[in-house]
Amino acid sequence: MKVSIIGAGYVGLVTGASLADLGHDVIIMDIDIARIEKLERGIIPIHESGLDRLLDKNSNRISFTTKMEEVVREADIHFICVWTPPQKDGSADLSSIRAVSRELGKNFAKLKIKTPIIVTKSTVPVGTGKIIRQIVRKEYKNDFSVVSNPEFLREGQAVADMMRPDRIVVGSNDAESAKIVASLYQDLRVPVIITDIATAEMIKYAANAFLATKISFINEVANVCDLVGADIEGVAQGIGMDKRIGKSFLKAGMGYGGSCFPKDVRALQQFSNNSGYDFKLLKSVIEVNEQQRQMIVEKLINNLSTLKNKNIFILGLAFKAHTDDIRESGAIDLINRIQKQGANVSAFDPLALLNAKKSLNDKVKFVAQAKEGATGMHAIVIATEWPEFKDLDWLEIKKQMTEPIIIDGRNLLDSAQMRGHGFIYEGVGRR
Ligand code: NAD
Ligand code: UGA
Repeated sequence: MKVSIIGAGYVGLVTGASLADLGHDVIIMDIDIARIEKLERGIIPIHESGLDRLLDKNSNRISFTTKMEEVVREADIHFICVWTPPQKDGSADLSSIRAVSRELGKNFAKLKIKTPIIVTKSTVPVGTGKIIRQIVRKEYKNDFSVVSNPEFLREGQAVADMMRPDRIVVGSNDAESAKIVASLYQDLRVPVIITDIATAEMIKYAANAFLATKISFINEVANVCDLVGADIEGVAQGIGMDKRIGKSFLKAGMGYGGSCFPKDVRALQQFSNNSGYDFKLLKSVIEVNEQQRQMIVEKLINNLSTLKNKNIFILGLAFKAHTDDIRESGAIDLINRIQKQGANVSAFDPLALLNAKKSLNDKVKFVAQAKEGATGMHAIVIATEWPEFKDLDWLEIKKQMTEPIIIDGRNLLDSAQMRGHGFIYEGVGRR
């Protein structure tokens, strides 16, 4: 089948490459001309393990464009993968979704296309399927259908998640179109849930909000562990072995970040509110997440009395390991908080330095290697759980520091070993 991907970001590129790998012809479109030019030259604008190989392997089935007319002429099924960023009030900004729908409608009419299918992969509030239908209908009077096919991939392992998903969700009020979209994935041989469009849209928000809730829950348990002398790692293991709870998303630390959990939790809260429901639990999930970042600041102050003129080295800037993405990263938030307290900040990240430089002020000193940043530091904060930080020469690092303080916001390092090396070590909820 011939499909189009509109929006060549994390979701669009990985979806496009994977659908091509499943044997479909794919045309990938973006309004960002520079991005498309790069892709045409084989330069991938994001870091995602295995994506270069997949795009390269399927290059004979993938083309790129900036023109919607070309997309509509060449493909029968159109996957909308554009961004849906948060607005000030927390609601999802649907302006790109609206713009794409209008352009699709106009070109369906102009090219007299028969029964096209529009699929939303972007995360959109319940009711967006209807909005898309209305916008397209204004421009195009013939039959078309709208299908919701939410995406559950994680950055850093997006290709693996896309090729081996736990389930595929397809929602539509048109059974035939839902079947066609589901059939695109049939070679993956994974469970497919076919449902109505509102339910599919809600599944995506409920999934992200539930995972964020799990993280805020374990973070609160960790905070109590700190007070009562229990160990959060043992607690997480003990509860995670109960299959009803599950092992994943029980890693305590400085809270969740990234381009999705923070935005989607707020958007669910906002559209629940608009529909007349006060989603009380989500308020606490957000509040606890904020508190976790501030708690790292408090841990620093408790150890150093004041942060004024203190040198703090932040290890890790990405919102999690194995990505160069710094959107809503806890590390960036933390740097802003400690700079406000008068600290001098230096920072390192193995992948996200370039992105972080664009969003932090020029007072932050960036170092090219982790081992270069320790000299004269009063404390080091582990802000991203990059595995290679475990293998640093910590004894050597301690010699270079002014004070041997480590605040481990990700519970990455071996606490006994660090204390054995003579560090004052504090994690989150670790005995
Ligand atoms: P992204 O920021 O990486 O990419 C979005 C792309 O859309 C950009 O390249 C942008 O230029 C393009 N775009 C914007 N407006 C456009 C328009 N009018 N026409 C054509 N292209 C346009 O975004 P992303 O991380 O891939 O996320 C996309 C959507 O998928 C969001 O709704 C997000 O919530 C959802 N999602 C993201 C992930 C993830 O891990 N990143 C996972 C699941 C779902
Ligand atoms: C998340 C979801 O896991 C995906 O299923 C979803 O598709 C995606 O959001 C989305 O909708 O965009 P992602 O944001 O890539 O994926 O990253 P996660 O691995 O879920 O981590 C999110 C944040 O939670 C990170 O800051 C991470 O450090 C934090 N986290 C995660 C914890 O603090 N503890 C955990 O146990 C797990």
